[in-house]
Amino acid sequence: MGSSTPLFIFICYGLVRLSTAVTVYYAPGQNPLSTPTATSSASAASYTDAAAYNPITLPVPALPDPMPPLSLSFNLQANAPGRSITQSGAFMGFSIEMSVANQVLGKNSSILQVPFLNLLATIQQRSGAVRVRIGGNSQETAAQVASLDDGEVIEKDLTGITYPTQTPPLVFTRDLLYMMGNISQLINVRWFVGIPFNDSSNFRLEIAQSAQDILGDHLIGIQAGNEPDLYAAHDDYVDEISSLIDVMSQSSDLSVAQSLLLTPSVSGTWSPESVWDTGLVDQYSSNIAWLSVEHYPTDNCFAQFGIGTPQNVTTLWPTYLMHSSAQSLVQPYLNSTSYAQSKGKPFIMFETNTASCGGFAGISDVFGAALWGVDYGLLMAASNFSGGMFHVGGQSVYYNPFISPPTNQSSFRKWTSQVLEISAANQSTYTPNYVIYENGQPVRMVLINFLSDSSGNSNYTANIAIGGGNTGQSTTIPSQVRVKYLTASSVSQKGGYTWAGQTFGGNFDSDGRLQGTETIETIPCDQTAQVCLVSVPAPGVALVFLTGERLTETEGAASTTFATTVLTQTFNTATIGASALATSNGRNGSSPLGSSSRGSANGDYGFRGSVPGSTMLGVCIASAISLVIRANYVL
Ligand SMILES: *[C@@H]1O[C@H](CO)[C@@H](O)[C@H](O)[C@H]1NC(C)=O
Ligand SMILES: *[C@@H]1O[C@H](CO)[C@@H](O)[C@H](O)[C@H]1NC(C)=O
Ligand SMILES: *[C@@H]1O[C@H](CO)[C@@H](O)[C@H](O)[C@H]1NC(C)=O
Ligand SMILES: *[C@@H]1O[C@H](CO)[C@@H](O)[C@H](O)[C@H]1NC(C)=O
Ligand SMILES: *[C@@H]1O[C@H](CO)[C@@H](O)[C@H](O)[C@H]1NC(C)=O
Ligand SMILES: *[C@@H]1O[C@H](CO)[C@@H](O)[C@H](O)[C@H]1NC(C)=O
Ligand SMILES: *[C@@H]1O[C@H](CO)[C@@H](O)[C@H](O)[C@H]1NC(C)=O
Ligand SMILES: *[C@@H]1O[C@H](CO)[C@@H](O)[C@H](O)[C@H]1NC(C)=O
Ligand SMILES: *[C@@H]1O[C@H](CO)[C@@H](O)[C@H](O)[C@H]1NC(C)=O
Ligand SMILES: *[C@@H]1O[C@H](CO)[C@@H](O)[C@H](O)[C@H]1NC(C)=O
Repeated sequence: MGSSTPLFIFICYGLVRLSTAVTVYYAPGQNPLSTPTATSSASAASYTDAAAYNPITLPVPALPDPMPPLSLSFNLQANAPGRSITQSGAFMGFSIEMSVANQVLGKNSSILQVPFLNLLATIQQRSGAVRVRIGGNSQETAAQVASLDDGEVIEKDLTGITYPTQTPPLVFTRDLLYMMGNISQLINVRWFVGIPFNDSSNFRLEIAQSAQDILGDHLIGIQAGNEPDLYAAHDDYVDEISSLIDVMSQSSDLSVAQSLLLTPSVSGTWSPESVWDTGLVDQYSSNIAWLSVEHYPTDNCFAQFGIGTPQNVTTLWPTYLMHSSAQSLVQPYLNSTSYAQSKGKPFIMFETNTASCGGFAGISDVFGAALWGVDYGLLMAASNFSGGMFHVGGQSVYYNPFISPPTNQSSFRKWTSQVLEISAANQSTYTPNYVIYENGQPVRMVLINFLSDSSGNSNYTANIAIGGGNTGQSTTIPSQVRVKYLTASSVSQKGGYTWAGQTFGGNFDSDGRLQGTETIETIPCDQTAQVCLVSVPAPGVALVFLTGERLTETEGAASTTFATTVLTQTFNTATIGASALATSNGRNGSSPLGSSSRGSANGDYGFRGSVPGSTMLGVCIASAISLVIRANYVL
């Protein structure tokens, strides 16, 4: 029997703090790199300097004029056309810059980050698995070494960096992989790693070898080239892939790794089609496990590095609070998700967030960004992506303690959720909506209200009917629906958001565990009119359960957490300063490549790969939202 569990929207805010050491990153444009403390690492206790710049919030954007309709009608149908491919509960995952992996995961295989473990456990309890990528630009120069001092697993050579885009060489030990493997012993984490591509005449395959040997089934993908469109020509890239596969296939030791490649991870300078049209996917079909892209909606490179176009945060902020943002991000890839389906390959947004080059303080780390992330993630799912990875670094939290996963690898592949974007007549960009299907039946809805209005007058009401009318289906309106809300007082609020009444707490208050009692609203439906009226606060998200499924998110897996007093006191060593991050730029960092226009090309400068805005502050922002679509798993 299948057990139906809810679509779960995981919001990770205010995570990571307590006894954990935290490296201070600076919000671009908010804190000068010249500040003497700018590259220091601070323990939780001395994190006050972060607080000094952290409280930045932007004014709540004015309500639109004219106001959009605040009452919309939906009639849900069984087997509605246009439903997505079936989606995994692990749809949303995390991308962690390799150079900061030792700050996020732990120090080494014997010292794991407890808040991270708690967070991952919290997610896994709801999703069954968590996908995490270790990589980014800093993987390009990574070289495996036998050992490092003091049990370190990663080290950067920061000397001799003379200009901002230069990449510090990164060295790592096999213990990095053991650390990842140990985490997977505790939590069902599935890993992506990346092969360094800075020298395609001499591929350093040690990471693929170590990952295959140590992670086993928990290794699900190996990136072949990170954002090649910022460095190479098409033909060169395809040639590089060819020679990589040649080299790998000559090694019987890499028999698994050679079939797990992820490509092409283009970031917008090349269209994905320009890669598909080379025939790469057909030629190397047995080697390619994932098709990937990376993209950020915009960048904050000018404030950070003086590169590109200055951004006006005042005008930018409201653009995140509209469905049109997610639409503009997803639309360029619709042809590619269709192409991927035709080739039988999953298509993944391998790295994304609110903005590259660090994100924007007051945008990237507030409730509005959470709403944006929920909408973006769901639209990707509805559009036949097979995953999305929010890039985080440093202090965001990922991992957790041991919970027996509710499912194993084989049953993990049996998710049956499908996502459909649904529009009502006169629907505006401020109130996007989705339906989750299981076995062809609408079972849940996600209703989003981007408006922010403390008067309560901008609450939005969805009038939900099922079948009947012109659908040729009988009406099946339930006597009641249950609703979980994601709420905060305004889109500008930082921390303290609630999900079904529970919260991770305020900024820097969390150890990765949810606090409080889960609260699920019951809303009676009008059996005469055959409609359920669900109100969505302004701002907020409502997850509506249309059937009588069990609603406790923690069903299916026991709750296990790690004590925060364990291990973390010693975790105060691995740090990387803002200036070092500014150089984690991949390849040989030869030049400011890419365009200076909007788009992730610029993301390759500076903080790209490191940490979008709020995460820098240890607030697990929208960047760290994991939105998990969980469905029928076979027990
Ligand atoms: C690639 O990176 C490795 C390790 O950092 C370095 O030794 C090598 O010189 C680099 N190769 C090129 C061509 O940049
Ligand atoms: C991890 O680091 C600690 C502290 O430096 C050290 O004592 C321990 O041996 C290291 N563990 C491994 C597996 O290297
Ligand atoms: C963690 O990794 C080390 C290898 O460094 C291994 O000896 C140890 O048994 C692992 N611990 C767990 C709990 O898997
Ligand atoms: C979709 O992608 C395929 C494969 O690259 C390409 O041949 C086709 O022209 C694309 N269609 C559109 C409308 O871009
Ligand atoms: C940013 O945009 C706002 C609103 O359009 C405008 O009032 C403000 O002057 C702009 N700021 C800068 C620095 O250009
Ligand atoms: C997603 O794929 C399904 C199945 O192929 C298709 O029916 C649907 O139209 C696709 N959706 C989008 C937005 O491309
Ligand atoms: C995974 O679950 C399936 C279905 O319950 C079961 O048949 C299989 O033996 C399990 N595999 C492992 C490795 O536990
Ligand atoms: C849509 O808007 C138009 C113009 O405001 C209005 O006349 C019409 O009744 C609306 N339709 C619905 C279904 O609300
Ligand atoms: C709007 O929604 C909020 C949160 O649910 C609620 O407290 C408030 O009463 C609602 N306001 C109106 C006018 O319905
Ligand atoms: C860096 O990479 C670029 C682009 O691949 C290449 O043109 C340049 O020669 C390289 N520079 C060094 C110092 O390796």
